[in-house]
Amino acid sequence: MSAEVFEKVKQVEEEINLANPGDEASVEAFRIRFLGSKNILKPLFGEIRNVEPARKKEFGQLVNSVKQLAETKYQNLKEASQNEAASKKQEGMDLSAPGIPLRLGSRHPISITMDRIIGIFEKIGFGVAQEREIEDDWHNFTAMNTPEDHPARDMQDTFYLRDFSNYLLRTHTSSVQARVMTTSQPPIRIIAPGRVYRNETISARSHCQFHQVEGLYVDEKVSFADLKQSLLYFAQEMYGPETEIRMRPSFFPFTEPSAEVDVSCFICDAKGCSVCKYTGWVEIMGCGMVDPAVLSNCNIDPEKYTGFAFGMGIERQAMMLYKVEDIRLFFENDIRFLKQFRSAL
Ligand code: PHE
Repeated sequence: MSAEVFEKVKQVEEEINLANPGDEASVEAFRIRFLGSKNILKPLFGEIRNVEPARKKEFGQLVNSVKQLAETKYQNLKEASQNEAASKKQEGMDLSAPGIPLRLGSRHPISITMDRIIGIFEKIGFGVAQEREIEDDWHNFTAMNTPEDHPARDMQDTFYLRDFSNYLLRTHTSSVQARVMTTSQPPIRIIAPGRVYRNETISARSHCQFHQVEGLYVDEKVSFADLKQSLLYFAQEMYGPETEIRMRPSFFPFTEPSAEVDVSCFICDAKGCSVCKYTGWVEIMGCGMVDPAVLSNCNIDPEKYTGFAFGMGIERQAMMLYKVEDIRLFFENDIRFLKQFRSAL
């Protein structure tokens, strides 16, 4: 009797040794047969009562070792089939296939426009001056001949620093004129690109922050004709060789005389469209001869030197160049808008 049950266990042991399940499904079948809740070893444990007392211990050890064998083999099979699945996946990989393309960022339309303006003036000898955005009252207003009671100083237009009321966010890049003229003597020929701030309600047409490019040329015998010729050169480089300019009398505290500059509408070839409001002209900047009072405020001799200055809004130029109808798009960083300028890299 004992020999018979020993024989049964030996058969199971042999079956386990011979089993060679290949795929995942047969590994699972192996588990169910030898280790599942109704595995074939289970009833063999019960057979112990048919074993003669002297061999009971030996029988118990045998069944346990066969169970252990099944467990070890199952673990090995499982590991092997997992490795195989992983290497199958790798086999499907084409190592010669091109990589995932790097997605290039794009330049901001304001940077593109600003660099273009800088490039045009650099060609005729203007250097770039960059200055602080938090400015004092003197450089932004007083030096620029803007009296205390001028409406531009009104709290409505200017962001003052709460705890330092003498300091403000510059309202125009003209403050750079004062910075440059107080620290250097003519000849001075600079352009000053940068961000400016005004306390204005945000809408499609205006924003509380925007960019300007300032220009300043101070030397002996600088004339209004020099100003006009420089701006005509700029307009034709920027908007095409056929572009014309016109100047309309205007007022700025820091220039005398002052003018507003229009260019012939490059969108409709001056025939009339919504951009030029059917006038054929679009306004692009303010300019004028540096007021002698500004020169003397900055310790430059107005008897010896004259100068011209101009200032333009960059958003305005970019809106016309790219036909953008809402200024807020430039500040919202919506990738769907910004990525359209990639080709202009
Ligand atoms: N600072 C003026 C503005 O912000 C522009 C300007 C600059 C006009 C220089 C004349 C000369 O509107």
